[in-house]
Amino acid sequence: MIYKKNKLTIDHLDIGNIAKKFKTPIYCYSLKTIEANIKNIKSHFKSINPLICYAVKANSNLGILKEIKKNNLGADVVSVGELMKALKAGISPKKIVFSGVGKTYEEIEYAINRNILLINTESKSEILQIEKIAKKKKKIVNIGIRLNPNTDAKTLSQISTGKKENKFGVAQKTFLKLVNMAKKSEILNLKCLSVHIGSQILSHKPYQKMLSVVSKVIKLSNYKFEYVDLGGGMGIDYNHDHSKLDLKKYSIEIKKFLKANKCKIIFEPGRSIVGNSSILITKIIYIKEGFKKDFVILDAAMNDLMRPALYGAKHKIIPLNKIKKISKKSYEFVGPVCESTDTFSTIKRYQKLNEKDYLAICDVGAYGMSLASNYNLRPKPLEILIKNSKVQILNKRQKISDLI
Ligand code: LLP
Repeated sequence: MIYKKNKLTIDHLDIGNIAKKFKTPIYCYSLKTIEANIKNIKSHFKSINPLICYAVKANSNLGILKEIKKNNLGADVVSVGELMKALKAGISPKKIVFSGVGKTYEEIEYAINRNILLINTESKSEILQIEKIAKKKKKIVNIGIRLNPNTDAKTLSQISTGKKENKFGVAQKTFLKLVNMAKKSEILNLKCLSVHIGSQILSHKPYQKMLSVVSKVIKLSNYKFEYVDLGGGMGIDYNHDHSKLDLKKYSIEIKKFLKANKCKIIFEPGRSIVGNSSILITKIIYIKEGFKKDFVILDAAMNDLMRPALYGAKHKIIPLNKIKKISKKSYEFVGPVCESTDTFSTIKRYQKLNEKDYLAICDVGAYGMSLASNYNLRPKPLEILIKNSKVQILNKRQKISDLI
């Protein structure tokens, strides 16, 4: 994504022309960026040779999943819907792991029928349920058990998962008991220890702590795990100030861990694969004078991009056409939804804007469209992919008539 003659372009295409042609709001993805992200992760962890299972929840668009499949990634799914979609995209069941605290009978049955690599369990009850279904089907089932390592990921509290007060995984003591229980099962094959401490993690230190807990627990369990699934969480540079996770430091920690624990590493990255691959193109409907600041009312809202309303997350907002003139007042960028939290950010000294101008909300590829809703009965936006300097429609804009 670069400005050419002050116009925003992706892969040589003028985004302003795309906005005019297709109308807004539009989720506009760049295949080049997705592929560069995959390459970046693969190259940093080359000597570890991990199985990379893309976390489908970050973005479950079928066209995107197909591209991810072409790059030989597996999938991490958390519902039967995501599992079906990953399979539809052509991802091999042998590269699919099923995570989540509450898999239903039907979901487990479907996963067993499709012979996926691993079902990562999170409770005694779930293990018993899987065992029951496996017995009924007379099928050996590979499972993992998710450890809650009680590690602070130092990220937003709403997306932190690895502390003892979180619902995810089981505490060390329970973990050891469940390992013994699974060991005795004739039909369950315990293959994996899994962890995931949170999302948008910017320092390697929480990972370092998590790995030392995992090492200790493996020793105590006296069990040889074929896989250790480290989850996802690798943070990206939303502020555009180079504050992203240092993958090199993370990989050094994993190499140290592997010296003491011979196993295959699984990653479940979502955000770091697709996060920075998309902008949300939006048009200014009105500019309304407010007290001390002006409200820039966009045609994209919290139903299209929930992250700011849900987590106070900040996404850069940039103009499609750059000009030099600066506005005297601050701008608060908001959507038209009837909620005070339908606001994206307030920015001082922004370029002077006019009604009908186009803007791009940056880094919305992960947990953007996948969290979108029809709140206020607003149709979900169009999704397009820029591939070899051409536009591919990934998903048509919902029609209002579909909602009525
Ligand atoms: N594995 C498990 C078990 C997870 O729960 C998650 C994310 C991932 C992998 C992928 O994490 P990532 O690499 O994308 O950080 N909606 C929030 C993020 C929620 C993450 C939920 N779990 C947001 O918009 O920031």
